[in-house]
Amino acid sequence: MKGAKKNILETIGDTPIVALTKIGQELPCNLFVKLEYFNPGLSIKDRIGIVMIEEAEKRGDLKPGGTIIESTSGNTGVGLAIAACTKGYRVVFVMPDKVSIEKVANLRAFGAKVITCPTAVEPDDPRSYYSVSKRLATEIPNSFYCNQYQNQDNPLAHYRGTGPEIWEQTGGEVDTIVLGIGTGGTCAGIGKYLKEKNPDIKIVGVDPVGSMYYGVFHGGQPSPVHTYLIEGIGEDFMPASIQELKYLDDVVQAEDSEAYFWTRELVRLEGIFTGSSCGAALAGALKYGKTARKNENVLVILPDSGVKYLSKAYNEDWLRENGLAEPKLAGTVADLITRKGRDVVTASREDKVQDVVHLMHERGISQVPVLAGGELVGIVTESDLLSGLCTSSVDAADAVEKILSTRYVRLPMEEPLDTLVDTFNRSNLAVVFDGERVAGVLTKIDLLTHLTEKIRQ
Ligand SMILES: Cc1ncc(COP(=O)(O)O)c(C=O)c1O
Repeated sequence: MKGAKKNILETIGDTPIVALTKIGQELPCNLFVKLEYFNPGLSIKDRIGIVMIEEAEKRGDLKPGGTIIESTSGNTGVGLAIAACTKGYRVVFVMPDKVSIEKVANLRAFGAKVITCPTAVEPDDPRSYYSVSKRLATEIPNSFYCNQYQNQDNPLAHYRGTGPEIWEQTGGEVDTIVLGIGTGGTCAGIGKYLKEKNPDIKIVGVDPVGSMYYGVFHGGQPSPVHTYLIEGIGEDFMPASIQELKYLDDVVQAEDSEAYFWTRELVRLEGIFTGSSCGAALAGALKYGKTARKNENVLVILPDSGVKYLSKAYNEDWLRENGLAEPKLAGTVADLITRKGRDVVTASREDKVQDVVHLMHERGISQVPVLAGGELVGIVTESDLLSGLCTSSVDAADAVEKILSTRYVRLPMEEPLDTLVDTFNRSNLAVVFDGERVAGVLTKIDLLTHLTEKIRQ
């Protein structure tokens, strides 16, 4: 029938490029995004799945009735599974246990056998998802280990597909590509093709903090490697598929907090529902954009869909457990100190109780920080003074050092208001420091006043 695609594989690619309308509008450049979740498997990895399989068939590495094995954080698995289902291959996927439950369930839905392995082990550790895949490839007869990290058909898929597609869609008007780097296949394939078309086109890679690429690019030495929550990008070894970073013009870093913040802003402000590596790519583009040329056309590759992260990037409990929850209260304690007025009342340890009581009365305050040599040595509170004088454990003529309290927490001016609620669950008093200087004392009523004023506005 006219207009019908031969099979699902023919729907891969030709994904839309969309202009951002709210995010980054303050920047000199024009920001666009390419939505790879328009692929049938909801990610850019559909493009490499079919190419890696067909090239392996051509080489005779993959034979009819064979089993495809791959180590994947999920998306390449789906790309391979879609092609394998239409071509009649079995699939076995080995994944790091940090991936979302949706991704595991997604692969099992395609009939795949899924094995999860510890994330926080060295790549060459026998328990790692790379090593387990390699071992399975020796144990399972008539199997083909795809190994997207060392497989040059990964960047080839982007050199043949994604690169030409971007060139045609943009009529060659694209100036800069910003994208997350995982295996690096996307940046190497797109980069090679677009630079053949226009050597001035820039490729900017985005690397999670905790991955090695940033350091390698900017200094030859890997950045300190540690686990992070962004999924699909970053690495702790140098894959062949990234072709020695040679097609990259710059690499910028993205923190987990930035990636998850922009992932949520993208759907709320632009209606674009994606995963954490997309938020990371956008965070990187916004950093790059600050120094971009006026009207420079910057295209951000957004590799996958948010449906794969409902239990994570879009789950308030998970975000809170991982310190990524959106601050309920905007601002810092500096806002409260400013509202109270900056001249803080203090006493010295020799000051007499009666003088400090007089000071409290005069200034309408209930606590006074006590300093010695500029250092905070304690705090005098109304309630301690009252019980002290009533029980005669202290006399009006005594020095206040006799009734000092240390029941307070120390906070810097930049402490987010969001954490102050928890602080006041632990202590009634917070002494705020501006560098070494005592900037003020905060109690629950200061926060309540701030909140009610906020609500009144
Ligand atoms: C969600 C996501 N984003 C980005 C990437 C990075 O793409 P590449 O491996 O081509 O660098 C991947 C790769 O697995 C991914 O799954």
